[in-house]
Amino acid sequence: MCGIVGYLGNQEAFPLLIKGLKRLEYRGYDSAGIAVLSEDGNLKHHRRKGKVDDLLEHMSGSVPTGNLGIGHTRWATHGPPNDINAHPHLSGNGQLALIHNGIIENYNALKETLTNRGHAFYSDTDTEVLVHLIEEIMQKSQGLDLFEATRVALNEVIGAYAIAVIDTSNPNEMVLARKSSPLVIGIGDGEYFIASDATPIIEYTKNVVYLEDEEVARISLADGLKIRTASNHRVTPIVTELEMAIETIEKGGYEHFMLKEIHEQPRSIADCLRGRLRLGHESIRMAGIDDHKEMWTKANRLIIVACGTSWHAGLIAEYMFEDFARVPVEVEYASEFRYRNPVIGEGDILIAISQSGETADTLAAIRMAKEKGAHVFGICNVVGSSISRESHSGAYTHAGPEIGVASTKAFTAQLAVLALVAIRVGRLRQVLDEQRFNRLLVELNGIPEKVEALMSKEPELETIAEEFKGSTNALFLGRGYNFPVALEGALKLKEISYIHAEGYPAAEMKHGPIALIDENMPVFFVATQDAHYDKVVSNIQEVKARGGRIIAIVTAGDKEVANMAEFVIEVHKTDDALVPLLSTIPFQLLSYHMAVKLDRNVDQPRNLAKSVTVE
Ligand code: AGP
Ligand code: GLU
Repeated sequence: MCGIVGYLGNQEAFPLLIKGLKRLEYRGYDSAGIAVLSEDGNLKHHRRKGKVDDLLEHMSGSVPTGNLGIGHTRWATHGPPNDINAHPHLSGNGQLALIHNGIIENYNALKETLTNRGHAFYSDTDTEVLVHLIEEIMQKSQGLDLFEATRVALNEVIGAYAIAVIDTSNPNEMVLARKSSPLVIGIGDGEYFIASDATPIIEYTKNVVYLEDEEVARISLADGLKIRTASNHRVTPIVTELEMAIETIEKGGYEHFMLKEIHEQPRSIADCLRGRLRLGHESIRMAGIDDHKEMWTKANRLIIVACGTSWHAGLIAEYMFEDFARVPVEVEYASEFRYRNPVIGEGDILIAISQSGETADTLAAIRMAKEKGAHVFGICNVVGSSISRESHSGAYTHAGPEIGVASTKAFTAQLAVLALVAIRVGRLRQVLDEQRFNRLLVELNGIPEKVEALMSKEPELETIAEEFKGSTNALFLGRGYNFPVALEGALKLKEISYIHAEGYPAAEMKHGPIALIDENMPVFFVATQDAHYDKVVSNIQEVKARGGRIIAIVTAGDKEVANMAEFVIEVHKTDDALVPLLSTIPFQLLSYHMAVKLDRNVDQPRNLAKSVTVE
């Protein structure tokens, strides 16, 4: 959601900004803009509704020159996506240019005060108010520089922000700040790269500083990087080294990132298990658990918070924890949890699951849980992300950068981590006996190979996609461990193909959705041979009796469902708890091919953002 880039150094800023904005396109946006400042203080400023390419077309070959610049892709919150609301926004006197990710909650009150003082606003955005506020403080206090004025202004602001500001009177400096929205500073050799995440930075430098909440930074060619807190305390910047490789953020011959990421799963799951699952030693090693053994053994309750696909992973984990560790579990949408008054405190462990590690609601939920005394265990994919840094302990999913907006490899990596945690905790709590423990380790270890085998089903799934691409609705049904897989299958289909799809526990169908079934309704079942198999078979009969078209994911060799369904996709047998790692893959491939056939923007579906940094 929204991308910020910036450059200060001795190269031309403009091409770097455009490249950076393109790298951030995956985050989702609706308009783009840049501002470049030349050495003689000449500011060039261009904005456009639409994609970065629309901006370039609008600029029709003009290339602003200068070594300082900022660029932005906007995901509108205040005011429609149009040229005027696109960032950067300028101060009234044209001296300052600012880009912003987030929401200034008290912008109305600030706008009113500033309007009374003679400021005129052109856009509908909350952002424009902020740049005028900084200007007002600079003018009023004569002598406060941009760094100081920004810091003072932010003390008047309520809300969330990552900002970058430049001042035409100083072409060798940029001011940055963050609160609840991410911002990374890449430190090169006499140059600086700014971005919302590390993807635009990685090809230039591996050394980065993650700005923390309520920090204001100044980068200057003369004085380097200086950071102060909003309350004016000096902070020593901590430089960390990025581990990401450039190939991981490129398509590598695939038509779309999503397809590449689906195919990466055998490796990403293996990467996630590597070093943790120790078959020869019959053990699981995870620092996040090993360092807090007593806490996990004695925990009263686990509360899992997440959004979207990550929430589906949480639902599957609920079954795992109950099954392996006999510990009470609640799974909550982070957005609901944060606004309730939940009974939570010491003895509770809150597990936050997030691919991006920046989801605003999940972040807010963990902050609330921390305040109430719970231990927060974060499961994130993006290394160094806000949730990973704010959790007490945790585990990375190690799936590598996920660029497609629809989550695929991050989801299966979350399931793999959650399986490891649940199995490990089950052993600690002496619920899992040695035999089942060892069997689970063997099964988990065999998952990457079984996922690899599933990739050969792609042509069959393409045929199914062709058959059903004209559908306007679809139902996804499953039970037990495969109920959340049905939810995830429906989410995947709707978000990238825009076909209306719903997921249900198969048994719930007769409490309402059955009314939808007719000969035009594709019903996707997960009917693998697990504890619920016979029940699901009955549910399939019920759909068949009403003329619904049945597509089923079954265990290899299954005859019974194959006789009832129009199409079946076989997955290998594994432990019931691990089936979702397999049964979810055909749904990913199906959604992908459906979206491609419908000519949708697979990697950047409309209205969606990869990382939802506003609530
Ligand atoms: C998944 O395909 C989504 N686009 C979305 O639901 C996502 O899972 C959700 O926004 C949560 O994101 P997170 O994992 O980065 O917190
Ligand atoms: N609230 C700002 C706007 O609507 C910033 C949105 C964003 O994060 O892109 O312009």
